Amino acid sequence: MSSTEAFAKKFLKENTMNILEVINLNFIYSDGNRALNDLSFSLKKYEIAALVGANGSGKTTLFQNLNGLLKPSSGEVLIKGENINKIKDKDLYKKVGLVFQNPDDQLFAPTVFEDISYGLINMGIDKKKIKERVCEALDLLKITHLAHKPIQNISFGQKKKVAIAGIICLSPDLLILDEPTAGLDPKGKDDLIEIINQIRSNRKISVLVSTHSIDIAYSWVDKVLIINSGKIVSEGPPQKTFTDSKILKETSLKQPIIIDIFKKLVDNNFIVDGQEYPKNIDELIDIIINNK
Ligand SMILES: Nc1ncnc2c1ncn2[C@@H]1O[C@H](COP(=O)(O)OP(=O)(O)OP(=O)(O)O)[C@@H](O)[C@H]1O
Ligand SMILES: [Mg+2]
Repeated sequence: MSSTEAFAKKFLKENTMNILEVINLNFIYSDGNRALNDLSFSLKKYEIAALVGANGSGKTTLFQNLNGLLKPSSGEVLIKGENINKIKDKDLYKKVGLVFQNPDDQLFAPTVFEDISYGLINMGIDKKKIKERVCEALDLLKITHLAHKPIQNISFGQKKKVAIAGIICLSPDLLILDEPTAGLDPKGKDDLIEIINQIRSNRKISVLVSTHSIDIAYSWVDKVLIINSGKIVSEGPPQKTFTDSKILKETSLKQPIIIDIFKKLVDNNFIVDGQEYPKNIDELIDIIINNK
């Protein structure tokens, strides 16, 4: 376990403060579609959680209910114990930052620099501080070279990074990212995970990501939330949620490839059962070597 992982484990064990509590949340679209159905879960300070579920299960609808874009039909969303209905929009942006699934829905200013600055300008922050914070975000996302490019002339993956930079520079307590790794190349995915880990360590924030990549969620996050037809049907550490074959079957999800290989090695007597599931390839290789 790396020192960062060890710190995260200790911090989460000692800290019990909930940054987010969602209680019996319901959301019905104007056409009568009930997209969220008595949905409840909580998220601790400093926790990174992955929301996983099939297409149309309600991930984006949930996220939009958490940042005020959509208003819950009933139920409660508490940020640091305060009901979001009572928080003014401009204050809510400082508490919850949502990076959209599709960057084209989020970016609209003529250039990268102007787009990232937009939220800070709205907050009434002075020009010098804005420049500092935008440059810091550009540097963090490794996109300083794009600062003065027109938005329409950058690639999809680059747009995703610009969208993340625009939210990160607002320093939210809870950073929500709707499928942040979708459409990124393999190195881009690894880099993004590293950047998000770095931000949570430096700023002690909580992170909620939705993803269709079970393998990324399994080896990365502290907690998994499985959503099905607008309801959280399983909540817990990845090694627990992603090894529950009944839940995985019911929600049309697959088990992580590492677990798949581990179980096959056990079934074929290459390794003995009864040990903790490996979180990544390095841990799996250690188990194989130690079983020789
Ligand atoms: N504007 C809308 N009006 C009516 N129904 C909607 C609207 N937007 C989404 N829905 C429906 O709400 C449900 C949840 O959709 P949502 O976009 O939240 O799913 P999702 O889990 O984010 O899916 P994906 O993995 O494809 O991004 C779906 O049945 C969808 O058809
Ligand atoms: Mg979605």
